[in-house]
Amino acid sequence: MYTNVWYVAGRSDTLTEEPVKVTMLGADLVLFRDADGQARCISNVCPHRGSNLAAGTLYKDGTLACPFHGWRFNGDGDCTLVPSRRDHEVQVVAPRARIDAYATVEKYGLIWVCLGDEPDAASPIFDIPEWGNDAWRFTYNEEIWDADYHTSKFTNLDYVHLPVVHGILFQGNENPIQAPEHHVTATEHGYQSVMQINAKPSEGVWSTLRDEGTKVESIMKFFVPGFTLRGQVEIGGIGSGMFNIFYEFTTPIDEYRCVMRHYFLRNYKMEADFDAEHTRRNLQNVHQDKRLAESQRPRGAPTGPNPHGIYTHDEDKIMLTYWGLMERMRNKGWQIDRDRLVELERKPYVRIIPSPVRKANPDGWTLPAMPRVPAGQATEWPVSELSFVDIDSIEPTRPKNYGECEPVKPHDPLSNATLEWEAAALERIQKAPEFVQPMIIENAEKAAKENGSNFVTVALLEELQAKQQGRR
Ligand code: FES
Ligand SMILES: [Fe+2]
Repeated sequence: MYTNVWYVAGRSDTLTEEPVKVTMLGADLVLFRDADGQARCISNVCPHRGSNLAAGTLYKDGTLACPFHGWRFNGDGDCTLVPSRRDHEVQVVAPRARIDAYATVEKYGLIWVCLGDEPDAASPIFDIPEWGNDAWRFTYNEEIWDADYHTSKFTNLDYVHLPVVHGILFQGNENPIQAPEHHVTATEHGYQSVMQINAKPSEGVWSTLRDEGTKVESIMKFFVPGFTLRGQVEIGGIGSGMFNIFYEFTTPIDEYRCVMRHYFLRNYKMEADFDAEHTRRNLQNVHQDKRLAESQRPRGAPTGPNPHGIYTHDEDKIMLTYWGLMERMRNKGWQIDRDRLVELERKPYVRIIPSPVRKANPDGWTLPAMPRVPAGQATEWPVSELSFVDIDSIEPTRPKNYGECEPVKPHDPLSNATLEWEAAALERIQKAPEFVQPMIIENAEKAAKENGSNFVTVALLEELQAKQQGRR
């Protein structure tokens, strides 16, 4: 995991009058609003005796009081008051009482926190040009994945999984599983990949948006801030002006879990009634990726690419670009030292992320900061040295139709992306409050899978509803 990255810590409208505890990079942090209404983020661990600051009281002067002895801390991490000795200077009563505080900004309806001690050197938060523009309709989804953030991200950062996992075939290609040529351009802060595809339009209402056989352009961008993936498809075909865009923000809770947040955008079928179907169609892909990520092994965030891994042209090219970005951060001294951390956590230990305040005053802290791999400590296996199969320079020796044959059981739940979606089922979801909609969709998909089916039906929704009512 990496420090000095702007991570998404939450949604702006969920931070109001109460402090909110969040766990990121395995460290406990607290978000709150100061006297000016600005979002602030400090370590959640009281430097006095380790109490949970998020359980304390927020005061109108923008300080947060610890729930144990009431010491108050502001958004800069300074201790401003020790109530039992309020007529004395804090630094006299409790020298060294201060806490790590992190750069925090609100943008695009989200709270961004730079977890590290060099926010000015971190990759800057990118633009979301569609934000605040009435031409775009946004819907939002947020969920926890029981998989580390690299593995979770990789379920989206490649093209070959599109036909295999989501059933989006590259039609028009001689081999519909082979990704068409795509161009990847990378900078220090991310990369982008552009590809023109001739994919089959989706089922149902989606099939009316585009004529079969027309091409769509897919632009995929990855940004280090928020570990964000932006996907854009001109869904009505090139030149139609109808775009489907998503932003996927990924925040590591720790080495094993992450929060996935999505904005789904469209500039067609703008009526609110279409939100549920738009969310449903997007979540169908998201949940196919989720099931995949959560079952991959080993569990836990890798500290780099597997030096003995197999790296092929189509499947792994984009992933290696990603690891190249991580390598740059490691070389800057921003990667958390996993080996030393494991060692330290054999004993009671608190994870504290190094902050700018600590960098400016490195001495006299009650708790040490998490260890990081020293800058300049060469990566053991640089991405450039991983052996890569350059397939384009090798002559094919098999017939073009090699491997073409029917599966034993045609409806493989992972490769079949078609869900039966009856109008009545959709109507039910549309009637539910917006924030419950993704939950209903997820539960229905899960139940369908448990029943050995890939179809969500009205009957199934009714069954779920009956069960839920029985519980109340
Ligand atoms: S533990 Fe926080 S003030 Fe004592
Ligand atoms: Fe995917």
